[in-house]
Amino acid sequence: MVYLKLSALAGTLAYAVSLCIAVDISVSSTGGNATNGHQYGFLHEDINNSGDGGLYAELIRNRAFQISEGFPATLDAWHSVNDAKLSLRNLSTPLSDVLVTSMNVASTTKQGEVGFQNDGYWGMDVKAGKKYSGSFWVKGAYSGRFVASLQSNITGEVFGTASIQSRSRPDQWIEHGFDLTPSKDAPSSNNTFVLTFDASGAGNSSLDFNLISLFPPTYKGRKNGMRSDIAEALEQLHPTLFRIPGGNMLEGLTNRTWWDWKKTLGPLRNRPGFSGVWGYQQTNGLGLVEYLEFAEDLGMEVVLAVYDGLSLNGDITPQAELQAFVDDALDQIEFVRGPADSKWGSVRAELGHPEPWSLQYVEIGNEDWLAGAPEGWETFKNYRFPMFLDAINKAYPDIQVISSGSSFDGYNIPKAAGGDYHVYAEPDELVLEFSKFDNATTPHLIGEMAAVHPNGGTGWDGPQQPFPWWIGAIGEAVSLIGYERNADRIIGASYAPIIRNMNRWQWPITMIQFTADSVTRSTSWYVWELLAAHPLTETLPTTSDFSPLYYVAGKNNRTGGNIFKAAVYNSTDGDDVPVKLSFEKLAPGITGELIILTGPADPYGINSPYTGVNVVKTNKTTIRADNNGIFHFALPNLSVAVLDTSAPNIPSME
Ligand code: AHR
Repeated sequence: MVYLKLSALAGTLAYAVSLCIAVDISVSSTGGNATNGHQYGFLHEDINNSGDGGLYAELIRNRAFQISEGFPATLDAWHSVNDAKLSLRNLSTPLSDVLVTSMNVASTTKQGEVGFQNDGYWGMDVKAGKKYSGSFWVKGAYSGRFVASLQSNITGEVFGTASIQSRSRPDQWIEHGFDLTPSKDAPSSNNTFVLTFDASGAGNSSLDFNLISLFPPTYKGRKNGMRSDIAEALEQLHPTLFRIPGGNMLEGLTNRTWWDWKKTLGPLRNRPGFSGVWGYQQTNGLGLVEYLEFAEDLGMEVVLAVYDGLSLNGDITPQAELQAFVDDALDQIEFVRGPADSKWGSVRAELGHPEPWSLQYVEIGNEDWLAGAPEGWETFKNYRFPMFLDAINKAYPDIQVISSGSSFDGYNIPKAAGGDYHVYAEPDELVLEFSKFDNATTPHLIGEMAAVHPNGGTGWDGPQQPFPWWIGAIGEAVSLIGYERNADRIIGASYAPIIRNMNRWQWPITMIQFTADSVTRSTSWYVWELLAAHPLTETLPTTSDFSPLYYVAGKNNRTGGNIFKAAVYNSTDGDDVPVKLSFEKLAPGITGELIILTGPADPYGINSPYTGVNVVKTNKTTIRADNNGIFHFALPNLSVAVLDTSAPNIPSME
């Protein structure tokens, strides 16, 4: 029997393979490679309102009238109640040094309930019995009560209210907190948050408000935490890798407006907000600590990208000025994983996290080959990456430093480092990824990947598909399986961008789409979920060729399971592919669970958020190996499958 090297025979799209004969695959019991266990994950950055108005659970839009270089303060999303006059003011006593603009609310009649309401991020989900936690800061003389409520935008029906005794003062900002538990479900998400006060209690004065906030119960009950239904859809993907905080968001629009982690820490009144790179002001509510807590909650290993002096407009930090950014990255790493008595570790401890977080991967910048090219890329290779690599290697020799470009971007990456490779492609192109890393010697992260364009399309300059589609998901599966075959060199693969608010987005292809009250799992979601649900701790060598059946085999030393993962892409005449599969040293008659995903008749079929129909069919069966220890099964064209023997009582020949 010939055991082909993992590197052999992968790659080309062969449409002419005869499929009458079963693909005969023998899996050796030894001779593969240990994996790092971080094969599947995603990139999160605030694009598509996937942070503010998305994963970050805050319901109030424009809660603090934040200002940045790219965006002036506005009253966007705010409306007056009962003819109150709303205006923005920069008071001589602002709420904080960074929240300098507030909303003045003046009654025009000096009597009756007046106030304001907020649109939320295109509506608000209101559910009976859930405790919504709110707060606001107010300055001004008022004796009386504030009334907070969640109401229908259509009928004005009130679903829940809270009455809050004023403690406000004319000369000081005072925070007021409240809980609001609706007694009724709202029939739709077309709802609003309303805050009013009795104008007569404020005499002739107006009141100033800032940082008006309302959270539903969050994922795992974290304060300032994540939206539960979105977080659960992410958790159910079994992710083990989390690349943060971007993407382009890390780089910022200019060298003055990059994502500065220090401005995302601590109380919300100390967070200035961020001049977002995707066309909207960001709150900084979803900050470094919130990201790390989320990674902890989902058991994900973080790939922390640090700013490296290149911004999207092509601003490049000269060598003489770069050390400040290197030092800043070292501070950031110390904040994440330094001891609680170190300078930045103690800041983390003060914020409630004395225990260091785990941090094994630090990426330098994002796509340095792109912005400011060719100078940006040249300066990255000449001095920016070497300066970061050297400093981080010295201080943290166990950290894997990753270049934001790959070996395929024309960079002979230094030995101590890894690369980051991004692929947004057509399904056919993703199939060619299968063997891309077979001969790679440098470890690589697949930091961003997704099927985005149709086959035979116009490539990157053509429009993206409106939603992930079935043959695109199969293309992703083939590349993911190829990456997993090389799991000793592939740090992991992260889908990007991961989620999209259907009310305002900049990038259409995302694994999950959502509105204020819905979450849609795309075709890609089902494929990634299945592949990630059966992690390999070790790959194993196999016999046989690839195409149109692309596969990886291995085992999981924790479950004891032998695992086979496969995808069929463009079989001859669309026929099923018969498979004969055996694992060396597994006894005849063993059983395994075979899970097969198939899609709609139309390979361009989607899971539409407008219909909620899931076009992905999941078929689970328990199959038994024959007397020679061979599993026999057939996989349909355009399918993804996993066979896992990790059920209890599996007889073994060892
Ligand atoms: O994932 C969307 C964007 O694509 C990322 O921000 C950027 O890194 C890439 O170009």
